[in-house]
Amino acid sequence: MSFPKGFLWGGAIAANQAEGAYAEGGKGLTTVDLLPTGKKRFDVMFGELPSLEPMPGEFYPSHEAIDFYHRYKEDIALFAEMGFKALRLSIAWSRIFPNGDDVEPNEEGLQFYDDVFDELLKHGIEPVVTIAHFDVPVSLIKKYGSWRNRRVVDFFETYAKTLFTRYNGKVKYWMTFNEINMLLHLPFIGAGIVFEDGEDKQQVKYQAAHHQLVASAKAVKAAHEINPDLQVGCMLAAGQTYAYSCNPNDVLDAMDKDRESFFFIDVQSRGEYPGYAKRYLEEQGITLQIEEGDLELLKEHTVDYIGFSYYASRTTSTDPEINQSTEGNIFSSLENPFLEKSEWGWTIDPTGFRITANQLYDRYQKPLFVVENGLGAVDTPDATGYVEDDYRIDYMAKHIEQMHEAIKDGVEIIGYTSWGPIDLVSASTGEMKKRYGFIYVDKDNEGNGTLTRSKKKSFDWYKQVIATNGADVTTPVQTTKS
Ligand code: BG6
Repeated sequence: MSFPKGFLWGGAIAANQAEGAYAEGGKGLTTVDLLPTGKKRFDVMFGELPSLEPMPGEFYPSHEAIDFYHRYKEDIALFAEMGFKALRLSIAWSRIFPNGDDVEPNEEGLQFYDDVFDELLKHGIEPVVTIAHFDVPVSLIKKYGSWRNRRVVDFFETYAKTLFTRYNGKVKYWMTFNEINMLLHLPFIGAGIVFEDGEDKQQVKYQAAHHQLVASAKAVKAAHEINPDLQVGCMLAAGQTYAYSCNPNDVLDAMDKDRESFFFIDVQSRGEYPGYAKRYLEEQGITLQIEEGDLELLKEHTVDYIGFSYYASRTTSTDPEINQSTEGNIFSSLENPFLEKSEWGWTIDPTGFRITANQLYDRYQKPLFVVENGLGAVDTPDATGYVEDDYRIDYMAKHIEQMHEAIKDGVEIIGYTSWGPIDLVSASTGEMKKRYGFIYVDKDNEGNGTLTRSKKKSFDWYKQVIATNGADVTTPVQTTKS
């Protein structure tokens, strides 16, 4: 089993889940800085925000996160030791434009990412950059209502152009919005949307979606004008929906559920609103404000590749008697009797990964980039911080094998960046306990810990996977504690 030459093996992190330093270097407050832990986090994520300032007495995990801001050299050296070819990371919009609508960018923020990219390039690691990973400057919510307002498209365009120009020659692979389809499920996280009393939430969400789609196309256009070699992708929270039974109604329901997500990528990749989306909007009484030139822009400036995350598949039924639901990347899903689950209730479905990759390639016929995959699990370190995480190795080995099967099926995949190669803050729960890393970070859910980094068993395993270009996924490896 070997992967294509030049395959981009690596890991993926996001600014708000790793950097910390939330008020340093001239950075403005961002959406995620208002997400506490616990039950309140979910209320905020769904768009019910009590305050646009951090509230006294609440713990906000993004404020320190794992302190990547100050420790990036140490972390990148560890990634390099594993042999990373790529690191996917995001830029915090409010480090560059603290208020989102500033006339001039913040030089300290720009310099920080210059330093990070230089460090990566020094180690031969290709930066893969998400422009907005669950991240909107809070000031844009206060002044404009965030993505519900068309003006935010212009601010995003300025932000994206600033990045393409500044980092031209350092960054080739870009993505516009992380898991853009999450906007419909978590409107605050996805788009900084805070609902007003009595408003039509679907109307607001789809208008915000249109704005993000236009902003994404404008970014693609700008990138190609600045440097035709730049590759700009979309990013989908993927995962095939299965029909619980062969009842055609279940199959139709599964198709409709997948289309809720495909809608975004259909626009970003095929360049137009699909018929099923137009029908849905019309039947729901949703009227989009589409400006002159928008549809041409969407048509002409489609993405270069399809980035996606895959953690789990989903299952659906129209039978009201079948109601055993489980968790999973925010999408509601029925329990699938054929699959095991993670400690957080996410199904474990490596074959679903192959199916999903095939489905995406069949649909878009563009290179795929797996930019997130991994297992969130409770790790129990020994006194030295070493974790025997065979469960993680098992999960990842099986997924990598299935990714290879997809490649054999003819699917073009350019890289694989596993989620959270170093433990970081969970996006959905805000916990540290939900760990994905090959590198353990000494920090708990309450923010206690030394932040010391130590290698888990999976560290040497992934190093071997990369060194053999995917050939030695299942072979047990000799590991050294450190
Ligand atoms: C994706 C996000 O939804 O899944 C990441 O892009 C997130 O930001 C990852 O961290 C895993 O989810 P969680 O909730 O376990 O952190």
